[in-house]
Amino acid sequence: MGNLVEVKVPDIGDFKDVEVIEVLVKAGDTVAREQSLITVESDKASMEIPSSHAGRVKAMRVKLGDKVSEGSVILELEADEFAAAGNPPRPPFAKGGSEPRQAASPPFEKGQNSSAAPTTDQAFQVTVPDIGDFKDVEVIEVLVKPGDRIDKDQSLITVESDKASMEIPSPAAGVVQSLSVKIGDKVSQGSPILTLATSEAAAAAPRPAPSSAPRPTASPSATTSPPSTAYAVDMVARPEVTASAGAIPHASPSVRKFARELGVDLTRIAGSGPKGRITHDDVREHVKRALSGVGRPAAAAAAGAAVGGLNVIAWPQVDFAKFGPIERVEMSRIRKLSGPNLARNWVMIPHVTNHEDADVTELEAFRVQLNKESEKSGVKVTMLAFLIKACVAALKKFPDFNSSIAPEGDAIIRKNYWHIGFAADTPNGLVVPVIKDADKKGIFEIAQETAALAAKARDGKLAIGDMQGGTFSISSLGGIGGTYFTPIINAPEVAILGVCRATTKPVWDGKQFVPRLILPLSLSWDHRVVDGAAAARFNAYLASLLADFRRVLL
Ligand code: COA
Repeated sequence: MGNLVEVKVPDIGDFKDVEVIEVLVKAGDTVAREQSLITVESDKASMEIPSSHAGRVKAMRVKLGDKVSEGSVILELEADEFAAAGNPPRPPFAKGGSEPRQAASPPFEKGQNSSAAPTTDQAFQVTVPDIGDFKDVEVIEVLVKPGDRIDKDQSLITVESDKASMEIPSPAAGVVQSLSVKIGDKVSQGSPILTLATSEAAAAAPRPAPSSAPRPTASPSATTSPPSTAYAVDMVARPEVTASAGAIPHASPSVRKFARELGVDLTRIAGSGPKGRITHDDVREHVKRALSGVGRPAAAAAAGAAVGGLNVIAWPQVDFAKFGPIERVEMSRIRKLSGPNLARNWVMIPHVTNHEDADVTELEAFRVQLNKESEKSGVKVTMLAFLIKACVAALKKFPDFNSSIAPEGDAIIRKNYWHIGFAADTPNGLVVPVIKDADKKGIFEIAQETAALAAKARDGKLAIGDMQGGTFSISSLGGIGGTYFTPIINAPEVAILGVCRATTKPVWDGKQFVPRLILPLSLSWDHRVVDGAAAARFNAYLASLLADFRRVLL
């Protein structure tokens, strides 16, 4: 039997209390030296911690969600005799496990800029900074293109070793003139990334520290000085991933590698891990679904395919340029992501839409009065807040509308929480942020939250968590116009309410026509879960709540 050793979190900078987001081994496993044991994550980076010894795992000492720091014991290992005196594992971007660590600013440590920015407006080359003695690290993402106006510290490229991924930010603001790298290139310290023309904004922006400024190091032995010709920049790791505009998939290096091996585009996957992180299982599930044809994008259908048991004939292939001038416009990331989801939902869910009119004359008068009274508070109540509250009341009365079909397809999972999503139109496409626990919130709180989430959506800053957990959705086109439409159900939800613009219409009161403000409602529902009579009752009840909002209290 080998020596019993405790494998600990090594020195990877001065980070502390970092969360364990993956445990990659278990008791009984045989591990090799340098094999990844756990993945830890700060708000800036994820990193795998390799084993300092080879041997057999006797007992795990950490679990998912634990917070660890340098020295925390990860596991107990029966180390192989001859390898028992293992060296500390090397950091993800350093070479040579036994050598003292060089001056790397690891992902958990934000280094300072360490060389001068241009002093006059001019073009200059941005290079890969000093991040230790790593070499030939692969460029896995290029985040800017020629012509882009970029800010200081904006991420330019993502590089990845087999253990960590990091973004390289810009040392200055300016306009990208030309790129010197592409995806798949191998770069090292000093490799040119791009040529940047500094702008007025850059001239006004605070200059990075001069090249003589000391750079924080990963260990006291660090001695590397910054390159004199390049604008050395600090390495910051990827930001928290969101599915919002321009967002980068949130996944650990091993998941990224796994996805690359399988040819999976991570931007197409919604992560199920903490903070929306994509896990190995998410990638596996995605591959399974792709193989079974579910959610197959139009491109795959081009050749004709079996989608969800249906034989889809080939997509028409037309050379449009033969008939007139054309222009190709790339789809935004959101559109690329939402398209296949919408197509799957439309094809897989037997949609029916019921329409209803709600008389909101009194409610609108109340809304206007509320807004007058609370003018100074800065919170503006729109019809959406009332709709959310009324929908919660209707969902409580008709719980099947607040449910999902069980994965096995043989049961309905009713949810005893009411998280209401609302479609928000953004320059990059449609997103659906969610008001959590809408049943527990008042009209003002909901109005404030919808406005804040809508603003975040428009700025492309929604986190995955802002869009998860919805039980029912509302798509309001009320601020734009229209009469009725057929909203597509946001799976795995089973119903969605579409709302159009309220207009004043003549309504017969038994004696005469009177002008009333009428709000058009369109409820799409999944016929596998509810039927037409229930939908008509739901709609009628919802309309009655909106006509007399006091009923929401009953
Ligand atoms: N009838 C009449 N007027 C309405 C209305 C309705 N049903 N709903 C909103 N309005 C009014 C508002 O009161 C506001 O008027 P004001 O500026 O005079 O005060 C104006 O329209 C603009 O409202 P809006 O900014 O849209 O606020 P909102 O709270 O109603 O909606 C969002 C917020 C995020 C839902 C909305 O901005 C949005 O993005 N809608 C598009 C959703 C979409 O694209 N769905 C399609 C999915 S297929």
